[in-house]
This record gives sequence, C-alpha cells and structure tokens, in this order.
Amino acid sequence: MNGAVRHFLRDDDLAPHEQAEVLDLAEVMKKDRFGHRPFEGPMTVAVLFDKHSTRTRISFAVGVAELGGHPLIIETGGSQMGRGELVEDTARVLSRQVAAIVWRTFGQDRMEAMASASTVPVVNALTDLFHPCQVLADLLTVREHQGPLTGRTLTYLGDGANNMAHSYLLGGATAGMHVRIAAPVAYQPDELIVERAAEIAAGTGGSVTVLTDAAAAAAGTHVLATDTWVSMGQDGKEERAAAFAPYQVNSELAEVAAPDAIVLHCLPAYRGMEISADLLDGPRGSAVWDQAENRLHAQKALLHWLVTR
Ligand code: CP
Ligand code: NVA
Repeated sequence: MNGAVRHFLRDDDLAPHEQAEVLDLAEVMKKDRFGHRPFEGPMTVAVLFDKHSTRTRISFAVGVAELGGHPLIIETGGSQMGRGELVEDTARVLSRQVAAIVWRTFGQDRMEAMASASTVPVVNALTDLFHPCQVLADLLTVREHQGPLTGRTLTYLGDGANNMAHSYLLGGATAGMHVRIAAPVAYQPDELIVERAAEIAAGTGGSVTVLTDAAAAAAGTHVLATDTWVSMGQDGKEERAAAFAPYQVNSELAEVAAPDAIVLHCLPAYRGMEISADLLDGPRGSAVWDQAENRLHAQKALLHWLVTR
C-alpha cells in the first residue's frame, strides 16, 4: 500500500476512473480465474454477517480462496459483537490479523464506524443504505451483454428507498449511465443520495431521473432492474405489496424497453411479486445468472485493487 487505506463503503468511494479500473480488472480476472493471488500466504479476509446471505457468503468465500487467501466467515450473532462489543473494538482486533474486512450489517453508520477504526480495507457487503458490491457485479454484467456503460440507460423499479436503488444511483452515475428510478411517492430515494448522484453524473455524462410512472421509466431502457419489495429487517409485507404492484417487472413492461434490453435482479427473487416468473425464467431473464456469478469476479477484482494499490 502506498497511501491511506482505502475502503469501499458506498459506490462513490470509487472515482469514475477507479470504478472503470476495477471493472477492467474483473474482466481480465474472469478470463484468467486462478492467475491472480494477492493473498497468497495465505492471508485471511474476515467476512462478517449480521444478516442472512447466500450469494455474498458464497462469492466472498470462493473469491478469497481463489485469490490465495483464507476466508474467515463470521456470523456475528455468535461473536461478541452479538453481545454488544463495540464495532470499533472489533475493527481494532481484526485489523491486527486480517488483510481486509468484509461486512453485511444494518446501519451505514455501523459500516463507517468499522472503517474509522480499521487499518485494513473495509468492504460494504450490504447495509440498509447501499449494496455497492452488487452494483459492481451488475455493471460488469451490463458491460458483458451490451458493451461500454457510458450513455446506456438503466431503469430500476420498485422500492426506490432501498439499498439497491441507492447503489444504482451512485454506481450508475459513476459509470456515466442514465439512471432512472420509478417508485411510489412514499418510497422515493434519499434526496441527498439523488443530489450526490446528479453531481457525479454531471461529470461523467450520465443523468439521474426519479419518477413515479413505471412505463415512462422503462421506455427505451437498456437495463430493467428490480429488487425485493421487502428488504431484510423491514416489516409491512402486505402494505408494501399493494404500493409496489404497479412497478412489477414483467413481460408487458419489458415490451416498452429497448429490443436488446436485459433484466437484472440481485436475488433472491420473489416471483409474482417484484418480477413475473415468465420474464425471470425466460430468455430475457437469463442475464440474472451471469449477474449472480459476476459477484465473484467483481469482488475478487475489488479486493485485489484495494490491497495492492
Ligand atoms: N444479492 C445478494 O446479495 O444475495 P445474498 O443476500 O444471498 O447475499
Ligand atoms: N434489498 C435487499 C437486497 C438483498 C440482497 C435486502 O436488503 O434485503
């Protein structure tokens, strides 16, 4: 390392040229899957979970091993964090022994507290506010299917106030994309994040649009993305299902998108809710499985970039 330790707590922690470097590296590493081993030794990467996970757990465990390292998966409920030990004290203890800390938790403030006391890179593996590793994988998927990201339109429909919506805003704007969010009035994105995304987009040639009309947001788009209507830790399933019903990503809506539009969903998917089964399980939904695989390649590149710069 040649400077201050870098963390990836939110999508805009990578400047546009840095995000492009990580995505370029991910493409190279995907082609030469076992040829990059910055953690050879092995060095350990701690991967902590305060919430459920399938893809994130698998992709970080597999990815760290493929980088030559040892993934230490910790369910925090069984650690002293689960009994109230300070996040900062946990960071101090981990920093003396591991090469990086990856964490899935609730509040973004907790992630920032971890980074504030860590001397090794901290990576956000999902908070209530952001899911930046997922959006790196999504951008890699769009690049693979559609080529350069600059000038492409990405439309996200559904819960505009959740982590995926916020990460699409920041990550998409960083990539120079035109990001459209369509959500009910009561579930619109955080205004400060929209402002920040617009500021980034002004420098990258992208744009940010927040709407309530699903069809208007989907018209001509290159990427149709959605996510669960009930994120981890949230209540009110029925009330949410009623509010989000007009935002279901289905074959009818896909008709108004660009002819080569792809569908993205970070998974887990709830068929018949945020996405129709025929769309997800049909040809247009097939990119979702590339997207899930790309968690591995994008995160390997991110870790490599963070620890070798
Ligand atoms: N997309 C995603 O983060 O999946 P998991 O919750 O299974 O990790
Ligand atoms: N918005 C979802 C994403 C799951 C990967 C959640 O936070 O539960």
